[in-house]
Amino acid sequence: MAHLTVHLFLLLLLLPSFMAAADSYHSPEPTDDKVVVTRWAVLIAGSSGYVNYRHQADVCHAYQILKKGGLKDENIIVFMYDDIANNTENPRRGTIINHPNGEDVYAGVPKDYVGKDVNANNFYAVLLGNKSALTGSGSGKVLKSGPDDHVFIYYTDHGAPSLLGMPSPPVVYAADLMSVLKKMHASNSYKSLVFYVEACESGSMFEGLLPEDINIVAVTASNANESSYATYCPGETPEPPVEFHTCLGDLYSVSWLEDRCVYIYMQYIYGAAFRQCHIPCNIVFIRETHDLRKRTLKGQYDYVRNRTSVGHTYELGSHVMQYGDASLNSKFLVSYIGWGLGLGGKNLPNDKSTSATSVNQRDADLVYLWNKFVKSGDGKALKELIDVMSHRLHVDSSMEMVGNILFGSEKGMEVLGTVRPAGQPLVDDWNCLRTMVRAFETYCGSLNRYGLKHTRGLANICNAGITADSMRAASSQACREFPTNPLSSLSKGFSA
Ligand SMILES: *[C@@H]1O[C@H](CO)[C@@H](O)[C@H](O)[C@H]1NC(C)=O
Ligand SMILES: *[C@@H]1O[C@H](CO)[C@@H](O)[C@H](O)[C@H]1NC(C)=O
Ligand SMILES: *[C@@H]1O[C@H](CO)[C@@H](O)[C@H](O)[C@H]1NC(C)=O
Ligand SMILES: *[C@@H]1O[C@H](CO)[C@@H](O)[C@H](O)[C@H]1NC(C)=O
Repeated sequence: MAHLTVHLFLLLLLLPSFMAAADSYHSPEPTDDKVVVTRWAVLIAGSSGYVNYRHQADVCHAYQILKKGGLKDENIIVFMYDDIANNTENPRRGTIINHPNGEDVYAGVPKDYVGKDVNANNFYAVLLGNKSALTGSGSGKVLKSGPDDHVFIYYTDHGAPSLLGMPSPPVVYAADLMSVLKKMHASNSYKSLVFYVEACESGSMFEGLLPEDINIVAVTASNANESSYATYCPGETPEPPVEFHTCLGDLYSVSWLEDRCVYIYMQYIYGAAFRQCHIPCNIVFIRETHDLRKRTLKGQYDYVRNRTSVGHTYELGSHVMQYGDASLNSKFLVSYIGWGLGLGGKNLPNDKSTSATSVNQRDADLVYLWNKFVKSGDGKALKELIDVMSHRLHVDSSMEMVGNILFGSEKGMEVLGTVRPAGQPLVDDWNCLRTMVRAFETYCGSLNRYGLKHTRGLANICNAGITADSMRAASSQACREFPTNPLSSLSKGFSA
């Protein structure tokens, strides 16, 4: 009762500011802009396969928020492999959820680029607005933004030092992405650009690379040298519905997708239970389900950073990082993603989700295979799990051996594992990195998603001035036989 009184009192205190705010309803939504601007968005899930359910779930959820928030389909470009909703493993065929109690986020998502059209080339072509460079049969939608417009890019997938995955090779290299962003800036194709990335080592996409003076701010799920985390995984809390044996989301992604200070404030108005907002946020207008809000990029960054780091404990959590133009921090989020956050209806989790447990993204496939085996007794899943484990062992031990051959057994691991100081990119010579990946894979087999984490070691081999010939010799010495494990096969081409 005492609580209720306090809350009522708070409500009365807050009410005048809500009323004042309501006056602004007839004026356009709050943005920093004096001219008419268009918000553009590019959303990319860089993986395929039911094991990676969560990446497409994140992207579909992001689409729903942008759409509810007022962005038009013609301005939202979606890349997703689209093999989840109808997947034979999907217990809720035709739908995708991004939270254990979540509602469908799949309905209505535009299929601009699906299947093989989800690739690095098309991603660059879309960003550069270059229709003639597109390959395949996508919608042909490209960014047509101009110098007054805001662009939002959201990428979720597996990553590795200085690269992001794609369902089909090649990967997105940090250096290539950076040159695309610089071209966009040079051609005046945005006023400001916000880039959210969920991936392991996602900080390495921008660390030492993104200039501060091209009106781009990038926020990444992790720093340059750590994993990011999958969440809503089987066996973790909160757990997905029992019929799911895959993770439903990623920790950083759901943190921004579920950022819903506004919703909590709305509860004051409707008299529902009082809940404390994590970060102060102001609302300028609330009516029924429509709200316009004054959340800034910084406000969301602080909130998301706390949740993704599990309250700064970093236990099963990562360091959310920011790169580029920090002056964009004071901009309103609505200028980029609209006002759809918190309008997810039944999709809203309870506060307990902030204490959710998560799984290192790199281990999410093990969790998936294990749960698939346990739930279905499917012997194939067990065989696959064994293959995955032995492939990991092979890749890790081969890299270690290469390091020992090149640098001696005392120094080998140390050199490969060296993390350059903050502000420096992973490697200076990007062609060298590509060459080293190829040299290793030629003799030791495919790195695969997991093995891509060794790009740091391969980059350090470049940074140490080792020649391609020495690398080839070391790799052939380390891997005398090309492994027969299906994951080692190079049939899909080089990993990077
Ligand atoms: C999924 O199945 C539905 C119903 O059979 C079909 O209409 C839809 O095109 C399928 N989607 C994909 C991506 O295969
Ligand atoms: C668009 O892409 C094509 C094919 O890659 C290329 O030849 C052309 O120069 C590009 N145009 C622009 C404006 O970048
Ligand atoms: C940070 O997160 C923890 C739980 O992860 C939560 O208890 C705490 O209230 C949050 N703090 C802020 C300032 O948001
Ligand atoms: C990883 O990167 C962070 C941020 O750049 C840095 O503070 C930390 O020391 C690095 N870790 C290692 C092992 O170098």
